[in-house]
Amino acid sequence: MNVIIVKDYEEASQKAFEIMVEQVKSNPNSALGLATGSTPLRLYELMREDHKKNGTTYKGIRTFNLDEYYGLAPTHPQSYHYFMCHNLFDELDIDMNNVHVPKGEGSIEEETEAYNKLLEENPIDLQLLGIGSNGHIGFNEPGTSFDSTTHYIQLKESTIQDNARLFFNGNIDEVPTHAVTMGIKNILQAKKVLLIACGENKAIAVKGMVEDEKNVELPASALQDHDDVTLIIDEAAASLLTKK
Ligand code: PGA
Repeated sequence: MNVIIVKDYEEASQKAFEIMVEQVKSNPNSALGLATGSTPLRLYELMREDHKKNGTTYKGIRTFNLDEYYGLAPTHPQSYHYFMCHNLFDELDIDMNNVHVPKGEGSIEEETEAYNKLLEENPIDLQLLGIGSNGHIGFNEPGTSFDSTTHYIQLKESTIQDNARLFFNGNIDEVPTHAVTMGIKNILQAKKVLLIACGENKAIAVKGMVEDEKNVELPASALQDHDDVTLIIDEAAASLLTKK
C-alpha cells in the first residue's frame, strides 16, 4: 500500500484530485469507480471547478458507483444516485448513459446480477473509496466475505448512526436499513484503488486496514491483497499508525 499522510481534509482532497484528473486525462475513456459520503465532497467540487475552468472532459468516461440504499428511488434527495448527480455529474459533460449506480429498488437478484455483469464488461481503471468508521468499504460491512460480488446487505447500527449524523437531517429513522453494494471481490478487481480517510473517527479503521492482519471483520484490510492501492490519510486519521 502506498500510504500518503497529509495535513488535513483539504490537502487530501487536492491530492486525490491530482490523481483523478491524471487518470481522466491520460485515458479519456476510463472506467471510474466512484464513492459517496462526506469524504469525496471536496474532491467532487474540485473536479467540477476544474471542468468549468480548464475544460477537462468527461465525454468518454464511464462511471460505476459503489452502492445505493435499498428502498430509495434515484430521485430521492438522500439516494446516492441523486447525490452523484447533484455533487458531480450535473456539472460535468459526462454522458448520463455512461453513468451507473446500483438500483436500490426492484428485484435484488436481477439488479445485483446485472451490476456484476456490467462490472465484468467494464473493468474499473480507478476505484475511489472512503472508509467507514467500522472499516467498511462500499457498504461491505464487517463480516462480509472477501469473495463477495454485488449483493444486498443489512447496514450495521454504527453505519446508520454515522450516516444519520451527516445526512438525513440527523433523523436516524429515515436512514434505510439495507443497501445494495459492489462486493469486495469487485473492488479488488479494479486496476487501481484510491482511498481517502480523514478525521479522528477513522483512525481505528485506518490502523486496522494498514497494520493489522487481514480479516473479514475489517473489510478494508482486504486491500492489503491489491498491488496498486494509494491511501491518502490526514494526520487525524493516521494518528494510530505506529509505522509512519
Ligand atoms: P464518509 O463515509 O465519507 O461519510 O465518512 C465513508 C464510508 O462510509 O465509506
